[in-house]
Amino acid sequence: MLKNIPLFQGLSDDDLKLVTDMTIEKQVPKNSVVITEGEVGDSLYAIMSGRVKVFIGDEEGREIILKMLGPGDVFGEMSLIDRQPRSASVSTLEPCVFKVLSHSSFEICLDRAPRIAIGVMNALAKRLRDADRKITTLALMDVYGRVAHTLLELAVHSNGKLLVGQKLSQQDIANMVGASREMVNRILKDLSERGYITVESKSITIHNERLPVSL
Ligand code: CMP
Repeated sequence: MLKNIPLFQGLSDDDLKLVTDMTIEKQVPKNSVVITEGEVGDSLYAIMSGRVKVFIGDEEGREIILKMLGPGDVFGEMSLIDRQPRSASVSTLEPCVFKVLSHSSFEICLDRAPRIAIGVMNALAKRLRDADRKITTLALMDVYGRVAHTLLELAVHSNGKLLVGQKLSQQDIANMVGASREMVNRILKDLSERGYITVESKSITIHNERLPVSL
């Protein structure tokens, strides 16, 4: 099953077996904290099923969602590499199944299958690209543009429709764009009234990819 995780693609069947034998499967219920920002961590998680959010919170309970991750993605690799405390928290949005690799197992795997290092570098490069895009959006766009941009980023083509299929609360969107839930509510309402999107209980359909970036 690890074959479906990009980090491990390119490994021979023998190497894959080696890594698989060193991972432990973990089933985690919905809304559970898997990683806490600032803690010492020494495991890498590969998501086999389910979705998680990566976020940073403050003492007042506010949070900024850095990214939502799903099957095939990995997290927890940063502390594994630099031995620094966890850079962010991760919690489950759905029941999840993870394959967990400890630091010592990871080092053995790296020795025996150095191609894993290329997978790690690719994953880190992708993270940096995503983070660059997010910084640009936060710095250059107002809230309306940030909401529109985030919807487009989350949307996938499905049966001829452009759909944000994952169930997202307005608070989730607000936490992704650094705005209040009320502001997100107003923007979604405006986009609906202008015919750009249809909001349903479990999805948002985007009718026009050229979403406006201001009122
Ligand atoms: P680590 O620092 O070990 O623990 C938290 C994890 O969240 C981190 O490793 C990454 O795997 C993940 N993470 C941190 N920042 C981001 C980001 N901007 N986008 C996606 N994942 C991230």
